[in-house]
Amino acid sequence: MKDIIEVELKTRKADFCKNKTDILAVGLFSDAGKLDSVNSMLNDKLDGAIQQLLKIGDFKARDRACTIIYGNEKIGAKRIMLVGLGEKKKATLDTIRKAAAVAAKKAVDLKAKTLSLALHNAFGESFDLSAIGQACTEGTYYGSYRYDEYVTESDDGRLGSLAVELIDSDANKVKKLNQGLNTGTIIGKAQSYARTIANRPGNVIYPEKIAGIAKELSRKSKNLSCTIFDDKQLKAKGMGGILAVGSGSVHKPVFIILKNKPSSKKANSVPTIGIVGKAITFDSGGLSLKPAANMDEMKLDKSGGIAILAAMKAIAEMDLPINVYGFIPSAENLPSGSSYRPGDIVTTYNGKTIEVQNTDAEGRIILSDALAYAAKQKCDIIVDMATLTGACMVALGKYMAGLMGNDDELMKQVQKASEESGEKVWPMPSGDEYAEEMKSKIADLKNIGSKWGGACTAAAFLKQFVGESKWAHLDVAGVDLISGPADYSVEGSTGFGVRLLITFLMNMANSK
Ligand code: BES
Ligand code: ZN
Ligand code: ZN
Repeated sequence: MKDIIEVELKTRKADFCKNKTDILAVGLFSDAGKLDSVNSMLNDKLDGAIQQLLKIGDFKARDRACTIIYGNEKIGAKRIMLVGLGEKKKATLDTIRKAAAVAAKKAVDLKAKTLSLALHNAFGESFDLSAIGQACTEGTYYGSYRYDEYVTESDDGRLGSLAVELIDSDANKVKKLNQGLNTGTIIGKAQSYARTIANRPGNVIYPEKIAGIAKELSRKSKNLSCTIFDDKQLKAKGMGGILAVGSGSVHKPVFIILKNKPSSKKANSVPTIGIVGKAITFDSGGLSLKPAANMDEMKLDKSGGIAILAAMKAIAEMDLPINVYGFIPSAENLPSGSSYRPGDIVTTYNGKTIEVQNTDAEGRIILSDALAYAAKQKCDIIVDMATLTGACMVALGKYMAGLMGNDDELMKQVQKASEESGEKVWPMPSGDEYAEEMKSKIADLKNIGSKWGGACTAAAFLKQFVGESKWAHLDVAGVDLISGPADYSVEGSTGFGVRLLITFLMNMANSK
């Protein structure tokens, strides 16, 4: 698949003032007191314009704010973009990731051909320069991303590509920035790839298409192999959950298995990991139909599964020394004469039966087959990601994913990856009380609990299918989508979870 906007990143040794570029982006802390070395040099060449702007108070360097100063004959850049970094004591790597995203978003809006980033200079020695290079790169991909493949007429189009450079006048610093740039490029591109597939609507992307994308990934990679169970194989394997949910659509359900077999033997000394993602290509609710308002957003109900695809793509490109399985159950949840019904009892892969009380609680039904299959494949660790419950959005809003699980150490590892990747999670319970609510009188389980704690009861339901594996569950409902204007990216899929999963897998590959 072609990138929607082609972004190429490089590092280069360059003089900050002489460097020729459409935009030179520099960072500023709101409480810095005085200008850092680069800003102070630029300020001199711009006859004090930066100081003036701050003095008048038009720019307060608030986190993610940005403003433009036009260049003059004394500097090489056509524009200087000041990007606010907020308070210095609050700065994390995510501050620089978001700052790069703000700069890249603005650069695309301004139809710039070239963007030079010198954001790192404001951070001094606070962070490792390679980590800064990675964060800048990820942020640049994030902010420059656009989804417009179906726009044929536009008054205000954009350029097809953007060339970005991370610059510094010190060759040593450039070298360090470049180390992070390579990892950041793989991760950033994987996230854009996920956003594009997720943004595609239900008439374009349906289970068979996701299977095709997975096959293409494996064809292009020597590390990845791909197996697809179609409806006949789903029946033969006893995956009654995926079949039931997909039964209302002309687009048949599938179960996708991607396997990463790295070249290094070292992979066998670290745990085997299964990553599992819900890929409902459109969730109408089925016969328990959803209200019409915002139902279109349910094309993003495949986001968890797509994050798995993108993470598998990235770790294969990195040749990460770790055995990873990607499991993606995919179906379209529609009402029709052949749909599954409220009241139906379905038998899942591990033999457990589910009484369907609401066809809109379909994610947990397809995941039951997938998790049970992952456990059977002897995954030491299973991490699943799903746009599972509106209740998770009620609990946490749109900023953090819910994190549940059955193993404290694993949950800590996921939290660590979350902090490093800037994709936020918050721990939630899923213990026995919640599991109790999911018991059925006429089957082993029912697919909805009481009115309260819906994210927790959903997780307690999933827990029944992971066997002895260590398991973590991420409910990404809400964080999968930017629904209004944002300063660091555009509306639509966020690709949430791609950076988190890759970071988690990189950490696991490096563990002993
Ligand atoms: N895909 C939805 C959850 C969802 C809601 C994701 C809003 C993103 C935004 C899921 O399949 C669903 O419909 N869940 C129901 C469960 C209920 C019937 C127990 C829900 O949350 O309302
Ligand atoms: Zn649903
Ligand atoms: Zn759903």
